[in-house]
Amino acid sequence: MATATSTTTTTNLGILISGRGSNMEAILAAVKAGRIPSARPRIVISNKADAAGLKTAERYGVPTKVVLPEGAKGWDYDKKLVAALEGAGVTPQDGLVCLAGFMRIISPEFVRHFKLRVLNIHPALLPSFPGLHAQRQAVEYGVKVSGCTVHFVDEGVDSGPVILQRTVPVEDNDTEETLAARILEQEHKAYPEAVRLFSEGRLRVEGRKVFIRSSS
Ligand code: GRF
Repeated sequence: MATATSTTTTTNLGILISGRGSNMEAILAAVKAGRIPSARPRIVISNKADAAGLKTAERYGVPTKVVLPEGAKGWDYDKKLVAALEGAGVTPQDGLVCLAGFMRIISPEFVRHFKLRVLNIHPALLPSFPGLHAQRQAVEYGVKVSGCTVHFVDEGVDSGPVILQRTVPVEDNDTEETLAARILEQEHKAYPEAVRLFSEGRLRVEGRKVFIRSSS
């Protein structure tokens, strides 16, 4: 049995982005509004210099850093991420790394380094439609319900233990874009909620299952 929890009162957040950063903003806005009192955003890192989310993070007063791959792959690149995260106070002892539209596959070494301290959000009800273009996959398959999943990151792709899921209906006339917009609204609720639960030490992981302890 493993407990994914913070042993201190504060969870230091590192958020990894590649683009728009709307999920990152949802987390930063929730912290700013006092809805995640036990978390402190310490750094936003992008692998792309022109990620729009970097400006958003600056508006929230969160330090940002661009970590360009410059040819580095796998753990060679991820070591640079670890250095940037730990330099900002996001450690395996009291940190939480949130992948928020980070368009790289994280190496097994990184996952092991931050064991049970890396979260991801995926725009489908996993294990359905992992990988790229999840909303397009859902529309093309003809499912009637889709949604989003926040999960712990393990050594596979979109395969780690599920923390929260939120559903949306798929309408007959939905396109990839209209479904993505409907799912995104739910992502912006689910991700801050999962960060709050983690930072309050309320997630317990047993194998594939995540149990959420009630607050009372
Ligand atoms: C979201 O749909 C998320 O589920 C997926 O990538 C997208 C990122 O959007 N992993 P944003 O950068 O958070 O706006």
